[in-house]
Amino acid sequence: MAKDFYDKVAKKFGGYGYGTSPRYKSEYPTGSPEIIFKEKLLGLSSKNKIALDVGCADGKFTLSIAPSFQKVYGIDTSKINLDVAKSHNEDERSKNVEYSLQDASHTSFEDSFFEIAYCRRGPSYYEEYHRVLKIKGHYLEIGIGEMDTIELKKIFGRGQGFGKWDKSRLDKNLKKLQDLGFQVVFAENYHYFEYYLSYEEFDLFLQGVPIFEDFDSEKDRVSLQKYVKKFSTDKGIQLSRHRLVLVMQKVS
Ligand SMILES: C[S@@+](CC[C@H](N)C(=O)[O-])C[C@H]1O[C@@H](n2cnc3c(N)ncnc32)[C@H](O)[C@@H]1O
Repeated sequence: MAKDFYDKVAKKFGGYGYGTSPRYKSEYPTGSPEIIFKEKLLGLSSKNKIALDVGCADGKFTLSIAPSFQKVYGIDTSKINLDVAKSHNEDERSKNVEYSLQDASHTSFEDSFFEIAYCRRGPSYYEEYHRVLKIKGHYLEIGIGEMDTIELKKIFGRGQGFGKWDKSRLDKNLKKLQDLGFQVVFAENYHYFEYYLSYEEFDLFLQGVPIFEDFDSEKDRVSLQKYVKKFSTDKGIQLSRHRLVLVMQKVS
């Protein structure tokens, strides 16, 4: 399902990050997890290090950090997204990026090939990331927390992780990573709000993200109207977000 979803979105909007651009404002009571994640990644970067971008999609983020590394390998299972990523090969920053169509659960890379592996809201095949990382190498992740868009999912009665994500995803991920031989360097939950400027902007947002992979503007109109009525504020339509950021080091 996920592969088809990301292909569908890339086809419709010309990529993942490059595609949809609904207007919204964010309020971060404890800092922006995206900024913090990027700071942590760049803090560990070096022109001697090779990095793996798991689930790189259209490569927008990959390109933004590529100049800080010797080389970045971007992998994804969505061919349409990778085609968008490769279409930016005239960009100077693409010189040290290599994209390939690969499933993150079983990659073609040798053991201990990377100094860094990172994942921005992509799949969590920790065993494989552990395998391809060198000892003392780092794994960084920005992931989706169990409380993300919870009120919206409750009104829709479905959605990503709905009814399944009942425990702290941060704790669960940390436990799995520690069991594999990673040590915690940094681990934090971030709760924040987004405010969408209109119903149409909010609808456009939902078309491009996997909160409901089967989102349908027509079929879901009643649920969406119900949510918008309940969560409209003078700042816009409020959506509660939850992200987790973790930085781990492979010690064994
Ligand atoms: C939410 S998007 C994030 C894209 C990008 N990392 C970003 O931050 O904009 C998740 C990406 O992971 C990719 N993906 C999902 N499962 C995968 C797998 N098993 N192996 C490789 N990529 C996968 C999807 O195709 C999609 O492009």
